[in-house]
Amino acid sequence: MHAIGIDIGGTKIAGAVVDELGAIVRSERVPTPGDPALLEDAVVEMIRSLSAGEPTAAVGVAAAGFIDAAQSIVYYAPNIRWRNEPFREKLEARVGTTVVVDNDANAAGWAEFRFGAGRLVSDMVMLTIGTGVGGAIVAGDRLFRGGFGAGAELGHMRLVPNGIACGCGQHGCLEQYGSGRALLRMAGEIADAGGIGQALARTRDEHGALDGRRVGNLIAAEDPGATAALRQLGHWLGEASASLAAVLDPQRFVFGGGVAVAGDLLLDPIREAFLEHLPARGYHPEPDFVIAELVNDAGVVGAADLARVWVAEHA
Ligand code: BGC
Ligand code: NA
Ligand code: ZN
Repeated sequence: MHAIGIDIGGTKIAGAVVDELGAIVRSERVPTPGDPALLEDAVVEMIRSLSAGEPTAAVGVAAAGFIDAAQSIVYYAPNIRWRNEPFREKLEARVGTTVVVDNDANAAGWAEFRFGAGRLVSDMVMLTIGTGVGGAIVAGDRLFRGGFGAGAELGHMRLVPNGIACGCGQHGCLEQYGSGRALLRMAGEIADAGGIGQALARTRDEHGALDGRRVGNLIAAEDPGATAALRQLGHWLGEASASLAAVLDPQRFVFGGGVAVAGDLLLDPIREAFLEHLPARGYHPEPDFVIAELVNDAGVVGAADLARVWVAEHA
């Protein structure tokens, strides 16, 4: 049976009807309202419209936050105003179908594992590089959730002692060094320094600020300042990956999210820093580093599939 997947991102809400092989049958997208009540309305409306005239197994909702083991409450969202949000209950009361809430990066990682870049491995780590840094761990063919459901928050591993303040309330998290926002900060610093930062500085002056699209265009044009910022970002991600390899020993690391369109320009510095920091280097088997395959669809496809898994396990 088909299932519905909804992916709530910082800028847009994507939704789709997904079949059992992970193919999208129908999809919709709307901008994300900033107000949590309006956001809920938008999700309800999308579920109603996607399920019109068609029986669906369940609805999976992927959200950017710490989720409980029952997959119903968002404990905390660093970049959205949710605190102990009983999202599942609220949605189920309004749509009358089974709703399962999952972490957005878990959903994306699960989709890559089942249908994309992680198909051929049993142990995989995914990092999503967007507004925040999301994490997913597949260990022994299973999605790892932790004891309270809120595990695999890889963006909040501490990377720098007493480093930059993070939306989670701590300091020095990977998210502050490896996210799309961090890339903009680094690009701004390079612009301030002059030299290779001239094109970045010019772009910033022209438009008042640097944004992801403009820095992305400069990276695509191989501007030395913008690619230097991307290399810094890659270094941090590679350093973090080395620690993750010591703990989880995945065969493969998958990188997704907007910044991943940079491809090898992102993966090369990741690989370099990974080897530089890998414990037991030279003796520890080396995982490979790849870009996500499902890109924009991973969230909805994974959310739908995880909802189906939940229903099967709780039938
Ligand atoms: C949140 C995660 C989320 C990630 C990507 C982080 O700030 O803590 O729950 O997966 O951002 O959206
Ligand atoms: Na996660
Ligand atoms: Zn944090």
